[in-house]
Amino acid sequence: MAQRSRYSIFKGTSASTSGNRGTLVLSANGILFTPDNGDKQLFLPLEKISAVSIEGKLLKRLCIVDNSGRRILFSVPDLEDWRQTTEMAIRIYEALSGNMPQNSATNNIPIQPQAKHNPVSQSLTTSPAGSTGNPIAMASGRAGTGVSTPNLQATARKSHPINRTPPPVYNGQWPSGQDYEQSFQTLKLSLNQSLGQVDRWEAIRNQKNPSWYVYASGNYGSIYKVKADDGKYYAIKCFTKKSLTINQRYSLISDFLLNLGSSIPYLIHFSYFPEGIKTRKIPDVYFPVLKMEWIDGVTLNQYISTHIDDSRAIRSLGNRIADAVAKLQAVGIAHGDLSGDNIIIDNKGNVRFVDYDGMYIPDFKGQKATELGHADFQHPARNADTYSERLDSFSALVIQLSLQSIGLKPDLWKKFNGNDPDCLILRKSDFLRPNESEAIDAIGKIRSKHTRKLLDLLIQSLSRGPLWDGIDPASLVI
Ligand SMILES: Nc1ncnc2c1ncn2[C@@H]1O[C@H](COP(=O)(O)OP(=O)(O)O)[C@@H](O)[C@H]1O
Ligand SMILES: [Mg+2]
Repeated sequence: MAQRSRYSIFKGTSASTSGNRGTLVLSANGILFTPDNGDKQLFLPLEKISAVSIEGKLLKRLCIVDNSGRRILFSVPDLEDWRQTTEMAIRIYEALSGNMPQNSATNNIPIQPQAKHNPVSQSLTTSPAGSTGNPIAMASGRAGTGVSTPNLQATARKSHPINRTPPPVYNGQWPSGQDYEQSFQTLKLSLNQSLGQVDRWEAIRNQKNPSWYVYASGNYGSIYKVKADDGKYYAIKCFTKKSLTINQRYSLISDFLLNLGSSIPYLIHFSYFPEGIKTRKIPDVYFPVLKMEWIDGVTLNQYISTHIDDSRAIRSLGNRIADAVAKLQAVGIAHGDLSGDNIIIDNKGNVRFVDYDGMYIPDFKGQKATELGHADFQHPARNADTYSERLDSFSALVIQLSLQSIGLKPDLWKKFNGNDPDCLILRKSDFLRPNESEAIDAIGKIRSKHTRKLLDLLIQSLSRGPLWDGIDPASLVI
């Protein structure tokens, strides 16, 4: 798993095959077609692809031929780019595995210097507009991620002593939310075609504030809503901080979640586009974006406010969040920044986690955390070394204790939240000085053995480390 999920997505788009619409994703694992209608996915590993071409006179399509001679035709935008990128992915696969099969799609393709194919050692993440990505650097998991794969690089260099010219690294100022706002005013000109048929996309204004396109902004980025050519709504996250480490981590996370399939419904699959959007101010550089399903719903804090009189709904939500954290932990993931605005309750009542900037996945084992999460949901001793799949345990306890307490005593919400969108009823200061905390005192007075047990666990955990294994999210469920 570690080896496989080190790889990244090279390209993704809306596509169709045999009249079936869906999403086509090319990663270092292979080509995956996911039909929109929920039909079975179609997956072709790179090693089983024997040819890639463009077929058809009037209606041109991407033709993938597998080792058994089966031909699969895909209608995709940007055909030539798809063909080239797929060929290149196969070439990378062969280079990294030291495997140059006779029957390869790349058999007749001389390996030549190409400006858009960067050498493995290149740590570039953002290149000038018009180029099409940095798949080799992404495949190595290296592009500025701090995730080093020295063995793979060495292998690739040995197999292919190629003298490629890397695109220049962008070292200038990173766009602001205002810059991206302008880009969404001229969406079709601003988005890279690698995202799909963007000339048929529409930017959707924020209904609550129609003079703006931006829906929400946080520490690292701004969220916009688009309607794509498939009629679906997507969230586009644009990054406002020049944190290449965080941006590039997304390609590994995306790949990991893709491999998980739909087994963890609380997580949202997304596509990471290293060269997604350009701005008026810096028109010759594409900046990275995430494209993900748009979740219609409310944040955890909004949900509590609107359900404050529904004790059962609030308490059940606490259980469901604890359960969701347990499921993540069981597959080696931690969200890393569970908080009142990174948890969305969708219109069907399902818990969904957004904002994976601080996520931990097994690929990051041994690394340092790149952010520390919202302090009002974190153990006060959390630091950059606090980084494992147990990262969410403390937050899950804070959320569960808060929701069970509010469910039994709704007054606590008004008294200790006071319309603060950044916390529930407990804050960092309560964790630092529990003996002086009014909120902890009030929770302690609730006559419930469940809240008593949760509160005892919280107090105990404060004198333990932030990754203390005494908090098992599954056992927080009441
Ligand atoms: N897929 C999505 N669908 C709908 N709203 C979203 C989605 N992703 C994020 N949001 C909203 O946008 C806000 C900011 O996004 P987030 O990824 O948390 O940015 P930041 O890293 O800057 O905090 C979130 O708190 C959430 O309310
Ligand atoms: Mg956030």
